[in-house]
Amino acid sequence: MPNQINSLYEYLEAYKKSTENPEEFWGNIAESFYWRKKWDKVLEWNFDEPNIQWFINGKLNITENIFERNLADFGNQTAIIWESNSPDEPSQHISYNELFKKVTQFANVLKNQGAKKGDRIAIYMPMVPEAVVAMLACARIGAIHSVVFGGFSAQSLSDRIIDAEANILITADGAYRGAKTISLKNIADEALEKCPSIQKCIVLERTKENITMKKERDIWWHEALATAQIECKAEEMDSEDMLFILYTSGSTGKPKGVVHTIAGYMIYTEYTFKNVFQYHKNDIYFCTADVGWITGHSYIAYAPLLASGTLLMYEGVPNYPHAGRFWEIIDKHKVTHFYTAPTAIRALMATGLEHVKPYQLDTLKVLGTVGEPINAEAWHWYHAHIGKGKCPIVDTWWQTETGGMMISPLAGITPTKPTYATLPLPGVQLMIVDTEGKELKGNGVEGNLCIKFPFPSMLRTTYGDHERCKQTYFSTYKGLYFTGDGVKRDEDGYYRILGRVDDVINVSGHRLGTAEVENAINEHPLVNESAVVGYPHDIKGQGIYAFVVLEKDGQTHEKDAMKASIISTVNKIIGAIAKPDKILLCSGLPKTRSGKIMRRILRKIAEGDISNLGDITTLLNPEIVEEIKKEAGF
Ligand code: PRX
Repeated sequence: MPNQINSLYEYLEAYKKSTENPEEFWGNIAESFYWRKKWDKVLEWNFDEPNIQWFINGKLNITENIFERNLADFGNQTAIIWESNSPDEPSQHISYNELFKKVTQFANVLKNQGAKKGDRIAIYMPMVPEAVVAMLACARIGAIHSVVFGGFSAQSLSDRIIDAEANILITADGAYRGAKTISLKNIADEALEKCPSIQKCIVLERTKENITMKKERDIWWHEALATAQIECKAEEMDSEDMLFILYTSGSTGKPKGVVHTIAGYMIYTEYTFKNVFQYHKNDIYFCTADVGWITGHSYIAYAPLLASGTLLMYEGVPNYPHAGRFWEIIDKHKVTHFYTAPTAIRALMATGLEHVKPYQLDTLKVLGTVGEPINAEAWHWYHAHIGKGKCPIVDTWWQTETGGMMISPLAGITPTKPTYATLPLPGVQLMIVDTEGKELKGNGVEGNLCIKFPFPSMLRTTYGDHERCKQTYFSTYKGLYFTGDGVKRDEDGYYRILGRVDDVINVSGHRLGTAEVENAINEHPLVNESAVVGYPHDIKGQGIYAFVVLEKDGQTHEKDAMKASIISTVNKIIGAIAKPDKILLCSGLPKTRSGKIMRRILRKIAEGDISNLGDITTLLNPEIVEEIKKEAGF
């Protein structure tokens, strides 16, 4: 396979080349892709504006690189194996030839509904092959997709549609998730009341539940398909045209739309997929992410298909109808590569080995993790009981903003160390700095993780607000992209991610801004103010701890009822993923004399460690600390 690294020596060589001459390095890799017109220049950049451009003036379409480039060799190969939420429903096998037809025909549906190049199209779908078809169909016609995770609320969906000014929404009647059904279309209907930009809503039939179709606006997927032609020529796109927007949380304000552009994203995700996983022909790769997150974009919808791989896509959840469901799927479909999140590993570990023992798991070759730091216990369990001690684990560190993996072992090539993401991938130039931005050189250092040179798949902007992109990522330390993560580089030069150093919490591998959760809580009519912090949680990695001050009227209500009502407000505004694990009702929050909430103190209390709360005498209201401690059970 082209661009495949086969040994540690080749990795070191590739890394060296990628830093000494990045343009030549990435230019060579880009040669194996299909271009309507080659680029004039590989890279132009400056991190101050920021302005990052790769493969300038190149013309291409990413779907031609998935399909036309490879169909002669791979047309009959299975592209997607789909496994239903229910073990009783037959799985599907979709070949590349069939997937190609589905994509082009649905691209025509989009065109028939008035979609054109540059339009933003929102996708709010279950984990069914049609979600990938919808994404690729957008790419085929040059429309920009914005996928919204199916667990988000009506308000979160409408916020994202409004921000992107999307004109089409693609959704389904409902989604199966374990024992539950999510009424996607009903939620979408509520969201669309606030979204005048949406002209058309295309609805896939999945759960067959009762929904209403709004005349003129709503159209069934299968009905639209019946009148659509199959062939659809790919739109010619520029390297730097937008491929998609994906909203993600930060430490301030509403989620921002991270923008990825076509060529750099395509090249980097395919390259990292092949090398990190050491994916080879006939391997079967199962990634448990949802297409609503970046992992589901890069390592479900795009990279495995660009690499002509066979992708297993699963509709359901890890523990339905039983806690051995993942392992059952691995045996059933002879999965070789399995990529999941530490939170899932911890949850399944907690259910006991009796759920693993009935399965062989002998087809597995490579295991992966992503989304949050993996603790040593979970790493060893995964290695011993799922990988049977013979499968390397790739602990892949990256972000929505990086588009592709940044720090990771190459499976079977890079010696691993539990809890370490190990070494940067080719093209990734890291720098560790202290809080003042001074570089911490050498090994055995700990600080804030930055990236000092562009790589092809990095974000280009935040949609509609370039200044926000600059402020969030490129202004903390001059000339550097700041990741928001703390990191340790040990004596061997290996990297271990220590977690976020900003006001972002990582709950079950999902990023949430504390401000975003606070804003949702504050929407409750009886809440006066709130402060949210993360705390260590055995399964989720971090849990959400909310300190809430009620209005006078609220204080007369029964406490448990108030807490339940606050949780339902958060569910409604963001979605169940942001639901606080613990709520502490108090009469005030510890504040400095300038009115700033002292989160440090709240964090300590939430962590259950009050031994060293620091000096609280300078607080405006030191007495509140005692009240909160008491309420927390100290
Ligand atoms: O804190 C890091 C953590 O997840 C953040 C990125 O979140 P998101 O954009 O939602 O993307 C998740 C999937 C790529 C990072 O800033 N993170 C991600 N992977 C790891 C990780 N922390 C430790 N180890 C990882 N492997």
